[in-house]
Amino acid sequence: MPVEDTVVLVVGSGGREHELVRQLAWTADIQKVYAIPGNAGTALLDIVENVDLSVTDVPAIVAFVHEHAVTTVLIGPEAPLLAGLSDALRAEGIVVFGASKAAAMLEASKAFAAGFMRRQGIPQPQYWTVHSLEEALEVIKERDPTTYVLKADGLAAGKGVVLPQTTYEAEEALQLMFSGEGFDAAGKDGVVIQERLHGPEVSAFAISDGTNVILLPFAQDHKRLLDNNEGPNTGGMGAYTPLPSYIVSEDQTARIHAIAAQSITGMANEGNPYQGVLYIGLILAEERGGAPVVIEYNARFGDPEAEVLLPALSESDVDVAHLLIQTAHGTLPAIHPSFKTSVLTVCLAASGYPQTPRKGDLIEGLENTYENVIIHHAGTKKVDDTTLTNGGRVLYVTGFGPTLDEAAAHAYAAIGENAIHFEGMQYRTDIGYQGRTPNTTVV
Ligand code: AMP
Ligand code: GLY
Repeated sequence: MPVEDTVVLVVGSGGREHELVRQLAWTADIQKVYAIPGNAGTALLDIVENVDLSVTDVPAIVAFVHEHAVTTVLIGPEAPLLAGLSDALRAEGIVVFGASKAAAMLEASKAFAAGFMRRQGIPQPQYWTVHSLEEALEVIKERDPTTYVLKADGLAAGKGVVLPQTTYEAEEALQLMFSGEGFDAAGKDGVVIQERLHGPEVSAFAISDGTNVILLPFAQDHKRLLDNNEGPNTGGMGAYTPLPSYIVSEDQTARIHAIAAQSITGMANEGNPYQGVLYIGLILAEERGGAPVVIEYNARFGDPEAEVLLPALSESDVDVAHLLIQTAHGTLPAIHPSFKTSVLTVCLAASGYPQTPRKGDLIEGLENTYENVIIHHAGTKKVDDTTLTNGGRVLYVTGFGPTLDEAAAHAYAAIGENAIHFEGMQYRTDIGYQGRTPNTTVV
């Protein structure tokens, strides 16, 4: 179907937005793509222009859209959604892919999400919503600290969750949450204490125009910095898709489909329709016989999940740009994507990440061609003819192939001394271990 929109704006600057822009840039009837602010990767693409505006400066973005005859806006991260960007643009008649501020509360408030799931009968961990330190201490008083997790209610840049080992650690975290001194002050007004569950984690993505839903094949993220899931939590050290059937069975898949459908219809029925992509973070909980349980919602594509899901979609003959634009128009087509290609992405993180990432290291090897590889920029900066590190998560090296082993081999072949590298580079060698043949790590 031809899409009249020819001028598209992508809001955001990470690997996820590089992938969104890449999908738009090779679509024949799109003539111009703006990225606010974009990154050194988006700047490489012919029809793309980076625009140096803040992603949360709503009036400036609305003015830009009018001045440059932008017809469709795709919003990547959550911050602009919560700043009301999608609402402000829709009020001006602009077609937007991205949840309204009210619907994005599924991500911005853990208490809102928990209450929504309770009303809709969506499986979630047992939970207690508490509004003061005293209330919280009362809940944990008689409990083993390894049986619960603490979640600051609001947004804490992915760092609002604590899995305490000791009661002392739990009390300390709660104190920091309620005083507002820690966790980006996201726990000041409330904390959700959740039952701790065990089992594989699955990232599911539901694309919806408010009524219709497409559930993408699943992905898995790798949050810890080091191999074997050791080291501190990060924004995501790698991801892969699709998952082997021994991780998610047909029955579990059917249950996740039901959860996605109920999430979207539930929001519509509550007068808060969800339009955009809903990220459903699940645990296949051993405590519930492997049943999928929702541990979080996000109002956006995952990063780095987007870097594997969108290439896998287009490798499976789905026109991703049109799919997203049609969603924005409220005319989501009824497709049931299944992936023919495996895609795996490895994060190259800066020295010192995640605590104190160093900036300004020279990235080498970007000029070479790597077979079956996409290089997604995330924290990079172009200075004259060189590309420098400019953030914690610097690049995602994304490989694809008919099997996960081949996808991994392609990605890892593009990383190292004779390929892409920079001083102090950190990366995991075991991304996708869940679905790879053991001992095939290429380093
Ligand atoms: P979130 O910020 O909600 O994605 O949580 C970060 C990580 O904490 C998740 O990826 C899980 O590994 C872990 N987590 C969150 N909630 C739970 C839970 N109820 N039980 C066990 N682990 C959890
Ligand atoms: N991949 C985790 C996130 O986007 O939050």
